[in-house]
Amino acid sequence: MRIDVVTLFPEVCEPYFSASILGRAQSAGTVEIVCQDLRSFTTDRHRSVDDRPFGGGPGMVLMCGPIFDAVEAIESQDPRRATRILLTPQGRRLDQKMAGELASHERLILIAGHYEGFDERIRVGLKPLEISIGDFVLSGGEAAAMVVVDSIVRLLPGALGDDESSAEDSFSITAGDSEQCLEYPQYTRPRVFRDMTVPDVLMSGDHGRIRDWRTQQALERTKSRRPDLLPDTNSDGGEDLSNDG
Ligand SMILES: C[S@@+](CC[C@H](N)C(=O)[O-])C[C@H]1O[C@@H](n2cnc3c(N)ncnc32)[C@H](O)[C@@H]1O
Repeated sequence: MRIDVVTLFPEVCEPYFSASILGRAQSAGTVEIVCQDLRSFTTDRHRSVDDRPFGGGPGMVLMCGPIFDAVEAIESQDPRRATRILLTPQGRRLDQKMAGELASHERLILIAGHYEGFDERIRVGLKPLEISIGDFVLSGGEAAAMVVVDSIVRLLPGALGDDESSAEDSFSITAGDSEQCLEYPQYTRPRVFRDMTVPDVLMSGDHGRIRDWRTQQALERTKSRRPDLLPDTNSDGGEDLSNDG
């Protein structure tokens, strides 16, 4: 898989993509992540990427030209078809299911905004998938790009070591009729800490009982914290995440 991130601040994202699980996945050839400096796709002396909004108002708006040029140049660097993603608080909210679907794409191009956001014709002309990481506004799309990329890459086959499987993580773990639960509680040494003890069942060595306890805990935790994830209130039928969809 190849992921390009178009940004005004590649130096913000690069260290994150080089560290830990994402860095290892790149070294192993599971994914290639390329931070592309939006200013390198400008044509004028000042390397301009933004201008004042027509109609007035505060702030600066990212111009169409550099972003169209960036996307078209990056797409021509690799024959695999790319899915274009615009990071915006107005987009569809990222969740584990969306991350899983995007992990099956061969190429992604993420566009991080800044200032007041994008000229509307970027949406209209490039027809990107628009993704938000939550109902709040960040100063720029870099943190959002890191969140989206991390959530996808850790789902790629081989990205996590055997000890780090994502299958039992919250939103991937299944329990009872529910295809999405929160993870059960975890404990490690010491067995007693400030009068708080590890449940006996986890020390029993009985793997059947441990599995049942964890399933029960995952269900109870989901019921109390996120009942919306349980079957009768979960109505999401899935969506096509290609740029044609
Ligand atoms: C200050 S925001 C612009 C917000 C825009 N004026 C609006 O109200 O929709 C600048 C950039 O940060 C990124 N951004 C901010 N919040 C985000 C979120 N919740 N999810 C994804 N990207 C976000 C986007 O790339 C956006 O273009």
